[in-house]
Amino acid sequence: MKPSNLAGAHILATGSAVPDICISNETLSSIVNTSDEWISNRTGIKTRRILPANQSIIDIATRASCQALNKADLNPEELDLIILATSTPNDLFGSASQLQASIKATNAAAFDITAACSGFVISLITASQFLNSGSYKNILVVGADILSRWVDWSDRSSCILFGDGAGAAILQSNINNDILGFQINTNGLDANQLSIASKASEEIVCNPAKLKFMHSHYDYLRMNGKEVYKFAVSRVPESIRQCLKDVNLLSNDISWLILHQANQRILNAVADKLDIPKNKIISNIQSYGNTSAASIPIALHEAFDAGKIMNGDIIAIAGFGAGLTWATVIIKWH
Ligand code: UT7
Repeated sequence: MKPSNLAGAHILATGSAVPDICISNETLSSIVNTSDEWISNRTGIKTRRILPANQSIIDIATRASCQALNKADLNPEELDLIILATSTPNDLFGSASQLQASIKATNAAAFDITAACSGFVISLITASQFLNSGSYKNILVVGADILSRWVDWSDRSSCILFGDGAGAAILQSNINNDILGFQINTNGLDANQLSIASKASEEIVCNPAKLKFMHSHYDYLRMNGKEVYKFAVSRVPESIRQCLKDVNLLSNDISWLILHQANQRILNAVADKLDIPKNKIISNIQSYGNTSAASIPIALHEAFDAGKIMNGDIIAIAGFGAGLTWATVIIKWH
């Protein structure tokens, strides 16, 4: 731990990585009873990327992290902490330590945050607390998910939505504080609307004590799309509005709206409710679909790389999804 007296949390650099394998709506139409027209009209998605069998989440998380480290001109050994937001780890005990080893961040502590599509925002907020308290100087926050390995490829109502990817951001303590305000919300009563539930399969193990042991497996991703849609378009604008109020800003102060890339209709509906013009919505859903915890950092990285985000811009970022969880962060870009 390297204590710092610069209590601001500054986003120093970003990175992203997606697999090369690209699946079009037309290809999906040969797998399930769907069409490019339905998927495009209902979701805005055209293609998604799928991780090949010989790669793991660590491969894409490493690529995104190394890109961010290069852009930040930072040595991996200078990282104090790695937070990996993922719901599809390599190991149920967490994958952040494998990422730490892979990028050779030998001095960094590392842990996972499991919060589905809100995971990156919650991790960003968590990192900012370590910076605000002066505990750490350099933190790598990664959002990575490979839901292609958890969806039911015969369920047309969900498999058409998801893709794989990773995005990264390096936060550094600084006199400038980029994170103006935040909000994290949870409604566990509706957890069943979107889940990859543990499925205990009965397994009687013969042993002298006649004990019955259970072995856990996980079910496919199951989602009540309509309910999740309604939740997103009602809760997300509320949360952004509250967050803006807390930091004395109005929705017309927002330069860019970066939402979890779940469905173009959700992005548009949230913007409409906040009176934010469509040209302020950052969207890459057409290319990658819903990449869960990776969708926001990939969108942020691509927008920054494309030169869209300027010094002083106010960015409202909100993640939402399984839990149910939703989280907002208001950023002033320096
Ligand atoms: O990352 C977590 C956050 N997740 C989300 O935010 C997802 C939120 N939900 C959604 O984005 C939308 O609810 C979906 C895209 C999942 C579904 O869109 P929808 O407009 O809510 O469609 P629906 O479920 O009401 O289905 C309408 C019709 C149904 O047929 P009938 O009953 O009207 O005959 C479905 O069976 O569309 C049918 N359908 C499809 N047809 C062709 C459902 N999926 C498909 C499909 N292709 N892939």
